Amino acid sequence: MRHISSVILVALLSACGGEQASQEAPEATATITHGAVNDARLRNAAGSGEDWPTHGRTWSEQRYSPLASIDANNVAGLQRRWSFDTGTTRGLEATPIVVDGTMYATGTWSVVWALDARSGALLWTFDPQVPRELGARACCDVVNRGVAVYRGRVYVGTLDGRLVALNAADGSVVWEVQTTDPNKNQTITGAPRVLEGMVIIGNGGAEFGVRGYVSAYDADSGALVWRTYTVPGDPSDPVESEALAVAADTWSGEWWKGGGGGTVWDSMAYDPELGLLYVGTGNGSPWVRELRSPGGGDNLYLSSILALDPKDGRLVWHHQTTPGDTWDFTATQQIILADLPIDGAPRKTLMQAPKNGFFYVLDRETGEFLSGEPFVRVTWADGLDAKGRPIEAPGQDFRDGLRFVQPTFFGGHNWQSMSFSPDTGLVYIPAQEILGAYMLDGAFRRTARDFNVGTELNVFAAFPPEVASGHLLAWDPVRQREAWRVPHGLPWNGGVLSTAGNLVFQGTADGRFVAYRADDGRPLWLDHTETGVIAAPISYAIEGEQYVSVLAGWGGIFALAGGTAARGAARGPGILLTYALPQAAPTPEQIQAFVTRPGPLADGERLYHRWCSRCHGAGAVSASSLPDLREAAARMGDGVAAVARDGVPGTGMPAMGGEISEEQALLIARYLLSRAEETLR
Ligand code: HEC
Repeated sequence: MRHISSVILVALLSACGGEQASQEAPEATATITHGAVNDARLRNAAGSGEDWPTHGRTWSEQRYSPLASIDANNVAGLQRRWSFDTGTTRGLEATPIVVDGTMYATGTWSVVWALDARSGALLWTFDPQVPRELGARACCDVVNRGVAVYRGRVYVGTLDGRLVALNAADGSVVWEVQTTDPNKNQTITGAPRVLEGMVIIGNGGAEFGVRGYVSAYDADSGALVWRTYTVPGDPSDPVESEALAVAADTWSGEWWKGGGGGTVWDSMAYDPELGLLYVGTGNGSPWVRELRSPGGGDNLYLSSILALDPKDGRLVWHHQTTPGDTWDFTATQQIILADLPIDGAPRKTLMQAPKNGFFYVLDRETGEFLSGEPFVRVTWADGLDAKGRPIEAPGQDFRDGLRFVQPTFFGGHNWQSMSFSPDTGLVYIPAQEILGAYMLDGAFRRTARDFNVGTELNVFAAFPPEVASGHLLAWDPVRQREAWRVPHGLPWNGGVLSTAGNLVFQGTADGRFVAYRADDGRPLWLDHTETGVIAAPISYAIEGEQYVSVLAGWGGIFALAGGTAARGAARGPGILLTYALPQAAPTPEQIQAFVTRPGPLADGERLYHRWCSRCHGAGAVSASSLPDLREAAARMGDGVAAVARDGVPGTGMPAMGGEISEEQALLIARYLLSRAEETLR
């Protein structure tokens, strides 16, 4: 009954809903029917929560939704509204994008799905056909963290290093560029960002000996606008910039032969007022500093936050979180921009909780270090000095033997995104405590197609599972201290969403999706996802109704490499889950009016429910493995009528020409098409 009533309600709503008013009609997007995101819309995204138009929802990447119809008082009633089976079993790390009622998500092997955000119906799929043998070049699973949507296109970075622009309406390829050298080992897992007519994309691969860079491509043509390297190259080649000349003095030996590292594989944020693009850079190649730069040095710009001029990619300022990194302490973790009260006055800040375990607050205009404190157990440094430089703890040198270190290369916090709520002033961090062990690999030699780390990894085989745990940490960035925490058994839990409904949503490695009160961390609601959640949830609204979505699919580096420490995780098929509050049930009068309404569509509907719905679903919504006839109708139009009469020989689809006339079959086909238009859009 509930199912039937929701079908009726959808029909009723769409009957009176009419066309959705477009939010703005700038000339540039006047003719774009899908993915009509532009700079003005992104700039104004903070105010309206209807869409989730870019990776971190806004350019400031706060991952805070101003929607509040789902709130701490009613979230206990949250229900699954729809789900989409991804047909995958490896890690799902993407943040879906939602624009004007369409959701764009990615899965393993860089596959893109466009779905109706209200019904979950699949609109189109794009499979970039990444050669599977290239999976061996991916350090950390064949994952993808999402697309960018802009000016009618959907941009995806593929595992094999391509940036592909798709038509947002149908998923067809508009242009495609190779952003990497196919003979090297770069991979793309991060989401592109879009701004000022450009698509910004980096890549990963430091373990495999590459030199880090970030590139900007013209959003319309795919032409390269600029490329900024993050570490100096071969000194016998011309140096690309002043910033790299400065950096070269902080390296020694023949680092360029191993690429150097410093890849830009995940975080970016943009401040349009300051005109600054922020990117985080990764670890060195190899990890161990003596093997990379034997004479020492800070090795700029590894493990750094870089502020770039988006016009030309020029470096404006930098802050290196782990100078001369030797532990794989990347600073690619999420960057959040927010205005915080510092010493009583509002300040334009940038926040990051990189792998090294310190929570950083910087002035985002100048790069000035404002504060930094450990947000997890930190043993490698005794703190940060007045300029934010770590004070390395004595006795850390692992050249002469095994050293235990916290955090580890899995990070006190990894790529799983955190969230900042301007309501509570707290940052919600998927934090983890994992003991690290480092010991120089005495037999290290660089290899072209394998991990180049330089520390012995077999020490982990001796570890009991208890050395790893995780928690959801609410952090006060102004006071630089914990507000509350929720312990999780396992590390490697999902990214976080906070909302104006005083809620924080997070999925867990053990297969739960949970809502907490944002101010005190009290758990209010949960759903069992059957597979570990590592991706971050989003929230959006269609015609005033709020939804929460999350991709569930256990995987990523800790799942692959964690061994016994990761064994408690839930392993199941990948699924995209969408939740909403229960719909108000239609009244008996509404149902009566709906069922007896006149007209050819209603006649087609009655015929459909007489002959077809027992297999293909009430309201033409298939909840089984049998074909969803809305999709079939969208694809074959009136051709459905012929299938209805002739059947599909050799299958369970019966020929019904003896029972239903051509005219009746056509009425059914037209009804199905109208259902497709109503619910698939
Ligand atoms: C007894 C169950 C059953 C009934 C009743 C039934 N179908 Fe089907 N139908 C199927 C099955 C099973 C398939 C999938 C056949 C296959 O394996 O290709 C199918 C396939 C189809 C397809 C092809 C879908 C595609 O994606 O290519 C259409 C169209 C279709 N049915 C229309 C109808 C219509 C219209 C009616 C009612 C007049 C109807 N079916 C009644 C079982 C049924």
